[in-house]
Amino acid sequence: MTSSIDNARRTLEARASGLVFPHGFVFGAATAAYQIEGAPDADGKGESIWDRFCRVPGVIVDGSSGDVACDHYHRWKEDIAVLKALGLGAYRFSLAWTRLLPEGRGQANARGIAFYDRLIDDLLEAGIEPYATLYHWDLPQALQDRGGWYSRETAIAFADYARLAARSYGDRVKRWTTLNEPWTFCWSGHATGEDAPGLRDGVKGGVTASHHALLGHGLAVPAIRAEVADACVGIVFDLNVSEAATDDPRDVAAARRFDGAQNRWFLDAVFKGAYPQDMLALYGDLLPPIQAQDNEIIAAPVDYLGINIYRRSVIAAGDELAPLSYRRVQPEGIYSAVDYEIWPRCMYDILHYVNDRYSPPAIYISENGVATMPETVGEDGCVWDDLRAAYYVDHLEQVAKAAAEGVPVRGYFAWTLTDNFEWAYGYTTPFGITHVDFATQQRHIKYSGGVYAMIARQETAPVAKSA
Ligand code: BGC
Repeated sequence: MTSSIDNARRTLEARASGLVFPHGFVFGAATAAYQIEGAPDADGKGESIWDRFCRVPGVIVDGSSGDVACDHYHRWKEDIAVLKALGLGAYRFSLAWTRLLPEGRGQANARGIAFYDRLIDDLLEAGIEPYATLYHWDLPQALQDRGGWYSRETAIAFADYARLAARSYGDRVKRWTTLNEPWTFCWSGHATGEDAPGLRDGVKGGVTASHHALLGHGLAVPAIRAEVADACVGIVFDLNVSEAATDDPRDVAAARRFDGAQNRWFLDAVFKGAYPQDMLALYGDLLPPIQAQDNEIIAAPVDYLGINIYRRSVIAAGDELAPLSYRRVQPEGIYSAVDYEIWPRCMYDILHYVNDRYSPPAIYISENGVATMPETVGEDGCVWDDLRAAYYVDHLEQVAKAAAEGVPVRGYFAWTLTDNFEWAYGYTTPFGITHVDFATQQRHIKYSGGVYAMIARQETAPVAKSA
């Protein structure tokens, strides 16, 4: 007898197998160094701001850190085996700046460089294309001690690091991302303080860090191209459409300001060569000095835009971060374990928003996924994460729809390959399509991984059970 759960799974799998993507569409999974690697001081690695931040009592809900995480530094082969079992053609990962340059600049660390050589070689051997991200939030502490992203020097150091990475791996790695989510690391790290380096300097902090991070990006693009003639270089922004909670003009204006801070500030700078006028006026004397050539540097042409998208933003007037002065509204609905509304249409909306206004040459969904409460492998040997499996089908349906309408979306990366260290949430809100038992480090592909693999392989066979 088949239960209603079985029926629901069969229905979901049928929808998954019916999804059609343009020829050559890339399916991958994404991770980030600090969230998976562990080994914080192995082989000469220097301290990063996340190594330091996690030591501050109370900042991580379960008091944990990325000290061990998925022990990927020693188990990368197991993770490549998982990618292979899933049949994914691409892997997006980040390099830890402090493995290559323990002090952030100066003396390079050959043993740290060698780690990513091993990883890249094994990926290529497995037929998986590496997509390298240079900065996923783990600034060298030595640079933080000199002002971090408040200093233009950090932008220059970032470009030097980009050059070193491109020189080291560019013979094999052609897909390069400079920064992952400057909105998040600049604002959560410098305005509100829930991420490293934990500064609570309000709008002035967020916007100052943002400008220097974008400057670092703009300097890094030609540095990478100088080393790797056939490099495909881009940047990843966390974007989502900002909707006014009501049609009250005060809410409409707040939603516009929020859109300006999270979306237009970054997109205009990179794709239009100037920050949006309304935001410059709003920030006023909270802005850092912007030098004459900065706009041009930041607008260095890119080959693609990566979009990380997890939700929409419903915004009302409020008192957060004056003069942005907004409040996030939580409409009735279904929410993930990190309190993000599950709203698949956000995917379609942001793809059109970006394409209509900025026409990037190509777009990748560089992250999308959902957090649940901690899961366990059941007695049947499966992790039945039905909510996550449905999340992927629902969101990929929206990607396919936008692609069919001509939006140049070329690939999709699930966030994330394995359960890992979810920043301030520690290990309490897993996002993986693969379960990790952190006591034994055993990996176990979840039901969502099986369903995602079916889509990635453009298979039509039903997924019988979690792999
Ligand atoms: C980040 C990831 C993070 C994910 C889920 C993104 O903002 O790039 O590092 O784990 O969202 O919160």
